[in-house]
Amino acid sequence: MTDMNSFQPEPSIYASDEEALVVGIDLGTSRSAVTATNGVRRMVESYVGWPRDPIALRHIKKSIVFGAEALENRLSVRLFRPLERGVLKHTLDGESDGDQAMGNKEAARELIRHLIHIAEPMRDQKVYGVVGVPAQASLKSKQALIEAAKDTMDAVMLVSQPFAVAYGLEVLDGSIVVDIGAGTIDICRMHGTMPEEVDQRSLATAGDDVDRNFEELLHEKYPDAQFTLTMLKKVKEAHAFVSGEVERVKAVFPANGSPTEYDVTDELKIACETILYEINDALHELIATFDPEFQQKLRSNVILSGGGSQMVGLPSRIRQDLEDIGGANVRAVEEPLYAGANGALQLAIDMPEEYWHRLT
Ligand SMILES: Nc1ncnc2c1ncn2[C@@H]1O[C@H](COP(=O)(O)OP(=O)(O)OP(=O)(O)O)[C@@H](O)[C@H]1O
Ligand SMILES: [Mg+2]
Repeated sequence: MTDMNSFQPEPSIYASDEEALVVGIDLGTSRSAVTATNGVRRMVESYVGWPRDPIALRHIKKSIVFGAEALENRLSVRLFRPLERGVLKHTLDGESDGDQAMGNKEAARELIRHLIHIAEPMRDQKVYGVVGVPAQASLKSKQALIEAAKDTMDAVMLVSQPFAVAYGLEVLDGSIVVDIGAGTIDICRMHGTMPEEVDQRSLATAGDDVDRNFEELLHEKYPDAQFTLTMLKKVKEAHAFVSGEVERVKAVFPANGSPTEYDVTDELKIACETILYEINDALHELIATFDPEFQQKLRSNVILSGGGSQMVGLPSRIRQDLEDIGGANVRAVEEPLYAGANGALQLAIDMPEEYWHRLT
């Protein structure tokens, strides 16, 4: 029987193997970040491309390209974005066979290999990695991720993305973290222990849906304007807002081939607001279903992270919407794009052997 007074932390995997390179990875639908014990901090957009034919290969001079380089060459490569809704795409229903699925599977493996490569392990150095995944990722997608990490890591541990953020910020006792990504919004309430299923929500409406709604609204308003989702995403990332006074947002798109300026302010705001309603519902629910004595503590520490947390006015909008349940203190993290990877790295440094999957 366990003696209640005898809890002794096991030494961490890192303490028992200080020669190893320990990495924290935020494997995102839209971009992925890696931080490591050697001080490396890098980011890559989650795209993988293979030259389509010998001419493309001659022009690109590489057999595989990643991130911005893959996007720039999108006309001459077979381009894959191997994650969707925050999980490996080939594991989603209806995506499990065919060429496209095989390509996505291989792309996921290559993206992980690339992330480890840019973390610069030394020759033959062991690599231990913690990877942040959506709060409610399925068993199937977790297994696929472990499988994809096999060639490149010696041990891997998967943790919920918002939990990684909370761990990195040291707000484990009484907080709610909202990680606003491209494919999912992941929410987790922290109350001093490992969060469980009931503490977490993964919302399927996230940054990608903002882009799609923005596209739809602009098509309706300006039928002659020519734009792609990638162009709109850029406009959004430069000007996204949900409250407050802002300058009018103007974007230039071709119309019948000639560059034309359009006012996109109202459509951008409405599109950004798409994510608000579900966030508020989930926050309401996670607060209301918690021990009444500690609800105040949760409300006083709502933390936003992920790329979407950079929308201007988001903390104050969420604060307003929570007023009817007694108000809240809402803030955005300082490093929205690295908060997940930093927390994953800290977990990797701290967690003992029993939490890891050995791969070699
Ligand atoms: N300044 C900004 N304002 C609003 N949205 C932004 C801004 N910068 C980036 N984004 C959006 O944030 C999302 C990317 O955030 P992040 O890198 O955290 O997501 P991800 O980790 O790739 O996705 P997921 O966690 O869902 O797998 C994209 O939808 C991107 O367009
Ligand atoms: Mg993310």
